[in-house]
Amino acid sequence: MHHLGRFFALFVLLAGAVALPASDAVDGRTKKGLNLAAKAAKKLYLGTATNSEEWNDTTYYSILEDNAEFGQITAANVMKWFDTEPEPGVFTFQDGDVIANFVKKTGKKLRGHNCVWHNQLPDWVVNGTFTAPELAFVVERHCFELVHHYRGQVWDVINESLNDDGTFRSDIFYDTLNSTYIPIALRAARRADPHAKLYINDYNIEGTGAKATALKNLVKSLKRQGVPIDGVGIQSHLTVGQVPTTLRQNMEEFVALGIEVAITELDIRLLNTTANEEGLARQKADYETVISACNAVEKCVGVTLWDFTDKFSWIPTTPPNEGYPCPWDENYVKKPAYEGIIQGFQ
Ligand code: G3I
Repeated sequence: MHHLGRFFALFVLLAGAVALPASDAVDGRTKKGLNLAAKAAKKLYLGTATNSEEWNDTTYYSILEDNAEFGQITAANVMKWFDTEPEPGVFTFQDGDVIANFVKKTGKKLRGHNCVWHNQLPDWVVNGTFTAPELAFVVERHCFELVHHYRGQVWDVINESLNDDGTFRSDIFYDTLNSTYIPIALRAARRADPHAKLYINDYNIEGTGAKATALKNLVKSLKRQGVPIDGVGIQSHLTVGQVPTTLRQNMEEFVALGIEVAITELDIRLLNTTANEEGLARQKADYETVISACNAVEKCVGVTLWDFTDKFSWIPTTPPNEGYPCPWDENYVKKPAYEGIIQGFQ
């Protein structure tokens, strides 16, 4: 090849490599995908929750492992307390390791979910009769061991600690320790992994309101006390036609506190909306609205779907007009919502 020709070929190659933000070129074809769209918008990832029992379904698995679609994984169940410390001080990471190993093998990111939550606790915690110092020790040990085992991750250290009116949820932790269990858990997580990103995660904080305000006040107060807190996870289990109009403003108010946010459990169910063309179009528009809000806020770092197919969603589908919350239907056909996500990142 003539020198100039070679130079030109190299230039085309480099220009191609630089000018492929939204897609990967594979065999001359352009590959599309949700994670590619997120990364083109300078987000760290678009990911999904999963359960390894779902992986026997080969179509499910092939979509899940595709890094063009998903760059991040959250274990939907197996890193929770009931599975990781079923008996006091006995840590069982086998189930969580299945997820962590998949993440490592595929080169995705992992979100740890979660250290302290009122739900899916082992009996010895939920029915325990602890003094405050005893439970403080139990919380500290659990968070430390969990975050230490899965080092180098983002962690939902605190999950769903507030009621909708902004008061603290009454559970074994609050009832025994008041809100001090929150700094205890966050500090233990930080000791376990100085590099982990530590989050508080909750639902019904998508728009401004009493619960979001209470969480902002909690973050402020933690920061004032020097308690480590890096982010707020906005779960986003939403309903078609009821997406708050203040998503962006709310995220901006959170990040103004000096933290990041992520959408951590996104799904948008139909409710009294038939899953016909019109219902699915409304769902698409709502997905686009949520993703655009994250897209508009620099410190909204990424988005996680709470599983990606209606086949395995935690939300039951009741034909013809309820459920259907995910961007893929139960037969793995992409719904309009899929395109809504892509468009939201543009
Ligand atoms: O593992 C058992 C299985 O052995 C048994 O045969 C079967 C019969 O019901 O139950 C299985 O356990 C279920 C478990 O999911 C694993 O599939 C539980 O009944 C069921 O309650 C549990 O639901 C999980 C739910 O959290 C618990 O509250 C969902 O899968 C999980 O997606 C969901 O995730 C939560 C987030 O952690 C926090 N935010 C809300 C979100 C949705 O509820």
